[in-house]
Parts: sequence; C-alpha cells; structure tokens
Amino acid sequence: MSADAAATTDDGSDPVLRVEDLRVSYGEVTALRGVDLHVQAGEIVGVIGPNGAGKSTLADAVSGHLPYEGSVTYRGREVADARASELVADGLIHCTETRDLFGHMSVADNLDLGTYRHRNDVDARREFVYELFPTLAERTGQNARTLSGGEQQMLAVGRALMSDPDLLLLDEPTLGLAPVVVDDISDGIEQIRDAGVTVLLCEQNVTFAIDHADRIYLLENGRIEREGTPATLRGDEYIRDAYLGG
Ligand SMILES: Nc1ncnc2c1ncn2[C@@H]1O[C@H](COP(=O)(O)OP(=O)(O)OP(=O)(O)O)[C@@H](O)[C@H]1O
Ligand SMILES: [Mg+2]
Repeated sequence: MSADAAATTDDGSDPVLRVEDLRVSYGEVTALRGVDLHVQAGEIVGVIGPNGAGKSTLADAVSGHLPYEGSVTYRGREVADARASELVADGLIHCTETRDLFGHMSVADNLDLGTYRHRNDVDARREFVYELFPTLAERTGQNARTLSGGEQQMLAVGRALMSDPDLLLLDEPTLGLAPVVVDDISDGIEQIRDAGVTVLLCEQNVTFAIDHADRIYLLENGRIEREGTPATLRGDEYIRDAYLGG
C-alpha cells in the first residue's frame, strides 16, 4: 500500500474515497496505470491533466461504471462489489462529461429527476439550485435540448446537487464555457463547498482547479505525476511551464 492510500485525517478517520493501484484498460488501450489517491470528507480534490490523461476514466471507475483492477473504496466499501444504483443511493453522484440530460424534458423536470435518491426537502434543494444558477430559474419550462451549452452545464451540475450528494464527481464542469459562465460555475462550487459536499473535480482547466481545490493530483498518461496543495503546484516549475503558461 502506498503512503497516499494509507492516509487518514488528523482525527484518524478514513477517507470517503480511497483509490489504490487503480488500473483500467479498454482492450489494448491502457488508460490508468496504477493510480493512488484519496479524498477526505469536506475536501475538494482536483484531478488535472491533458486530453486523454485518464480523468474521465477515473471518474467512471470510481462511480462504478467501469471494470477495474486494484481497489476503489467509497465509505469503506469496494465499488466493484456494489451496483451503480446502490452507490448513488449511498450519495456517490457523478456529473459526467456528456451531461446525460433529458433533452425533451424541461429544466424543472430534469432537476426533479435528480431527487429520486430521496424526496425530502425537494423544494429547498430546488431553491438552492435556482439561487446558484438564476439563469435556470428563468427557464424552468424550457426543454433541456434548447438550452445553451453553458446553461446545460449548469443544469447538469444542478441536477447532481438535487440528489443531495455526499461525494460529487464533477467531470470537466467548465468544458467549452465562456469566462463569464465559468465564473457562475465557480460561484456554484464555492457554495457547494459551503454546503459541506465533498467533491472530486476532474478538470483540464488547471487555473480553475487550482482556484477551488484543497489538494490537486496531476494525472498524465494514466499516472499521478504530482500531488499537492494549490500553493505547492503553483510553485512547481514543471506545472508552471506546462500548465500555467509559465
Ligand atoms: N471506450 C473507450 N474505448 C477505448 N479507449 C478509450 C475509451 N474511453 C477512453 N479511452 C482512451 O483512454 C484514454 C483516457 O481517456 P479519458 O477519456 O479518461 O481521458 P480524459 O483525461 O478524460 O481526457 P479529456 O480531457 O479529453 O476528457 C484515452 O487514450 C482514450 O482514448
Ligand atoms: Mg474527460
């Protein structure tokens, strides 16, 4: 077991998510080559890396959607031993890179689909999402497929929040968004943090990840190449040259 995988919090509690020597292949293509990481309750942990690094593969494996070798435990339970629906019921919510919205359903109905995990406090949670993204509140009856890309992104994040997640996997929430919309998503992440949700944030937008994460892992070609706080990574010459434009 690596030093990282063995990590516990200061009070000795186990991480919410623990990934050890995770390996995933798609036929001949090896996407993850032995990844170790952990996420503690209340943390926002960023996974950064270029196209094809394996970020989405990591999120898919963690949420129980891919066969893997090695170990992924969520709240101490091996993910491979649970059904994806059981993981959702236990608060592990994945907001995928492809959004998975229901295009012919309204904003409000897409949000309500997020509440199948439990149906208490639905109004309060819907209100939280509309406060987070006022644009959605103005479009409650509009079909999801007619939303702009940025609005769809807000809806996907909003729907994930409707499930009242304990661990939220966010895959590229800023992908393809204009800076002003990235700012909205930024505000959203900070409010999600204030609400105490634990987040694993997969992002190619390194500045965004560094701005919001408590700790960051750099994934390249299926391996973790760096790990540290935003301050450590900002001071890392390689990260500065390769990812922060010098
Ligand atoms: N279904 C698949 N079949 C074959 N190869 C795949 C499949 N999905 C991903 N890969 C390969 O696995 C590697 C990792 O892909 P992944 O989507 O995890 O990267 P990523 O870091 O999320 O990239 P991006 O930033 O472009 O979203 C890539 O080389 C990709 O081509
Ligand atoms: Mg991806």
